[in-house]
Amino acid sequence: MIKALLQDFLPIIEQRLEASLKHADTKFDSVYKAMEYSLLSGGKRLRPFILNEFYKACGKNDDGALNFAAALEMIHTYSLIHDDLPAMDNDDFRRGRPSCHKAFGEDIALLAGDGLLTLAFETAAKTEGISADKVLKAIIVLSTCAGNDGMIGGQVIDLVSEGTNPELSTVKEMYIKKTGALIAAAAEIGTILAGGTEKQVLAAKDYALNLGIAFQIQDDILDKIGDSALLGKPVGSDAKNEKSTYVSITGLEKAKSDVEEYTKKAVLALETFGKAGKNLKDLAEYLINRSF
Ligand code: IPE
Ligand code: IPE
Ligand code: MG
Ligand code: MG
Ligand code: MG
Repeated sequence: MIKALLQDFLPIIEQRLEASLKHADTKFDSVYKAMEYSLLSGGKRLRPFILNEFYKACGKNDDGALNFAAALEMIHTYSLIHDDLPAMDNDDFRRGRPSCHKAFGEDIALLAGDGLLTLAFETAAKTEGISADKVLKAIIVLSTCAGNDGMIGGQVIDLVSEGTNPELSTVKEMYIKKTGALIAAAAEIGTILAGGTEKQVLAAKDYALNLGIAFQIQDDILDKIGDSALLGKPVGSDAKNEKSTYVSITGLEKAKSDVEEYTKKAVLALETFGKAGKNLKDLAEYLINRSF
């Protein structure tokens, strides 16, 4: 059921992403080509899905949240392009094809990331049919979650921790920020755009931060024991870069049981949404056993 829902959502978000890349001036085709190469390359689109599901869970069933959903996927994709650069994780494959810098060079990959980040805010700001005060609130959440107190901050902790032995609490903070923050943006923005209550916004954030930790622990597990053909990215990247992860600190079994623990916490947070939270519950439980 949840698999079918994810599948059904794909053409909806793909179409919005494609439309946002349209441009008139062919002078800049090289950077647009690199942006398109990475953006339209078959990611799971979980963050847009979560954003739209929270929008629906608050009683909406129109396409009003899709520009923000597309914007969030652009920011996520930019983070992946930069994450793969030689100066960061130095990984050559992403989403089943050569990483952006392998295909277009480091200079254009940097600019493609910058281009996606900027286009994200343009796309979000062009939201129609939702009041300007809600759009403004959502843009503040988007920028905070993507910025130094969110995803970027998490990436900083990740990089400065390489080759050190950080405490588990530091690794947890890293996960909350580098991965949890964009998932929290999805949950909060969907709820805000739909006019959800303060209590619902807080519950959405609680769900997302716990799901984010579970999601990143599972990502680290797959980096250790996954199949690169299924993942579409290399395995062994964390060991290569001397990263400390939940898996390297607690061992595989404890990491697996923690994925379940954090997923349970995420599901508990959905209580306030009642039956409307069912798809989000199913999603969290489905992700526990993901292999890509
Ligand atoms: C990968 O995210 C990076 C992490 C935060 C773990 P996803 O696993 O959602 O990657 P795509 O979007 O499906 O490629
Ligand atoms: C990714 O963490 C976090 C980002 C913000 C991109 P990883 O470095 O583990 O992600 P993958 O494994 O390369 O997708
Ligand atoms: Mg990384
Ligand atoms: Mg990486
Ligand atoms: Mg990883």
